[in-house]
Amino acid sequence: MKSVISRFLTGVTGFLLVFPLLGCEPDRPLAPPNHRNGHKVYYGYCSGCHESGNKKVPNLRDKRYLSENTSDAQMLRSIRNGRGQMPPQGGMLRDDDIKDAIRYIRFMQKNSGKAK
Ligand code: HEC
Repeated sequence: MKSVISRFLTGVTGFLLVFPLLGCEPDRPLAPPNHRNGHKVYYGYCSGCHESGNKKVPNLRDKRYLSENTSDAQMLRSIRNGRGQMPPQGGMLRDDDIKDAIRYIRFMQKNSGKAK
């Protein structure tokens, strides 16, 4: 006979497995239609650091990263090759994916500083 604890654990595991499938990820905003890939890349590879609230990781909505201060080309180089504490992302992502992520960052910058 199954113990109450093992029944409970089976239930919890089942829930944890099903939960992501339902798409209930409360912190992740919906993707605007023309930013699907950039959104996917950003939340898949970047937000873990850039949305962590860790003071050592810059907020990309900061003035310093607006296009007049940090160009798309500069961003592409830093993201692909790494910069300071940011490891190179180029081994995992193609340039096209990085460019889509940059377009999504520009979109966030324009939209009142909030990820949307
Ligand atoms: C391991 C944590 C980490 C990850 C993952 C990460 N970053 Fe960064 N990122 C940083 C840190 C730290 C800096 C500050 C680097 C510096 O200026 O010393 C930075 C800087 C940047 C900059 C500014 C570059 C510049 O030229 O000043 C951009 C743009 C950026 N990240 C975008 C991204 C994107 C897009 C991704 C995902 C593809 C990403 N980052 C993934 C930690 C991370």
